[in-house]
Amino acid sequence: MTDLSSLSIDPATRRVSLDARDPAFYSDPNRAYAALHANCPTFYWEEQKQWFVTGYDHVNALLRDRRFGRQILHIATREELGLPEPAAHTRHFDKAEEHSLLEIEPPEHTRLRTLVNRAFVSRHVEKMTPEIEELANRLIDGFEKDGKTELLSTFADIIPVTMIARMIGIPEEMGPQLLKWSHDYVGMYMFKRTRADEEAADRSAKEFADYVRTVIAERRAEPRDDLLSHMIHTEHKGQFLTEDELISTTIVLLNAGHEATVHQIGNSVRVILESGIDPATLFTDEKTTERTVEETLRICAPVHIFQRWCLEPCEIDGVSFKRGDKVSMILAAANLDPHKFPEPLTFKPDRDEGANLSFGAGIHFCIGAPLARLELNIVLPLLFKRLPGLRIAQTPVVKDVYHFHGLERLDLTW
Ligand code: HEM
Repeated sequence: MTDLSSLSIDPATRRVSLDARDPAFYSDPNRAYAALHANCPTFYWEEQKQWFVTGYDHVNALLRDRRFGRQILHIATREELGLPEPAAHTRHFDKAEEHSLLEIEPPEHTRLRTLVNRAFVSRHVEKMTPEIEELANRLIDGFEKDGKTELLSTFADIIPVTMIARMIGIPEEMGPQLLKWSHDYVGMYMFKRTRADEEAADRSAKEFADYVRTVIAERRAEPRDDLLSHMIHTEHKGQFLTEDELISTTIVLLNAGHEATVHQIGNSVRVILESGIDPATLFTDEKTTERTVEETLRICAPVHIFQRWCLEPCEIDGVSFKRGDKVSMILAAANLDPHKFPEPLTFKPDRDEGANLSFGAGIHFCIGAPLARLELNIVLPLLFKRLPGLRIAQTPVVKDVYHFHGLERLDLTW
């Protein structure tokens, strides 16, 4: 185990210094979270110049607290808040984010979310069960005889993007291109991103938006039974989605729809194999499968941080926030709060201490949670059933993108 020397905690002032690009940290953030829970669960992160919250109750309450929001410019100007003008070199990225569900608040958020929500409720996504099974089986058929595989490229990368593309109505052959655009795009969420990262994100946002625009034109001319046609033609209180809203919504669904799930397939397989528990005992029926999946989501969540703006003065855990301050919630750390989950660093699929916060809570609660859960509950048992004796062939390397906790590669053998 490498030494986490970049972490320093001062419980008296609640100041923490930590390099998010330190491999010892992002490879195993749970160790740092345990130290933070023990010493200083609400802390000021010097390098990020912001307050961070890790306690389960505080994170859960903050996610639902309407005194905090994803938007601030609807109640204050850039000048008042001392914010810089938007940069020209990220204008296409900013444009794509403008109407993203993740970035807006009611009433716009309610209107857009209502429109897409129907497609993502459990009873609707459950109809995709046979397709997910068929695809997962076909991919396993492709590498079963090899006795080894790199699971992300041959399996995890393919399933979520194929499913979300089918749902929206984007041709499946676009899968690899969508992955590339999306990888560039999420580079904008990285701590210490470079100008080159920003330019790549902007270029991909432009190409992505231009492409979505052409598919929208096709669906306007010839509607199909897909989510994009539904979004184009559905009216809400006499209004239709504008072209920009359609583009932002399609991009956020495609990006969010696969990025986290890809990581979670890898994270879940790794956690299970490293737990030493016989996988055959973890997937005996629907109930045990569900518990296993939820426990992997608790202990190794794929997205760690979400931020909110403070919209009115308030106090959280003794810290005063004023309008325009930002606060970050570390969902993956909230899942490790020892007050909520005893022995938090131990993988225990028979826990019954309540829900993890990996999909968030409140009005921005992950709209794709039923789809992500369905995919995980189908593909994980299938993989372990089809490949008995599955084991890790090479110590997995975690990606240097702290917000998204996922693996570079997962080399397996059986
Ligand atoms: C394991 C997989 C996934 C995880 C852990 C995850 C996690 C999250 C979290 C934590 C949020 C809340 C963000 C916030 O409060 O600011 C969120 C929102 C969202 N997720 Fe997911 N997600 C996953 C898969 C998906 C999938 C498959 C979709 C596909 C549609 C999706 C689409 C979205 C969208 C559109 C939002 C924004 C919702 C809103 O703001 O109203 N996610 N996700």
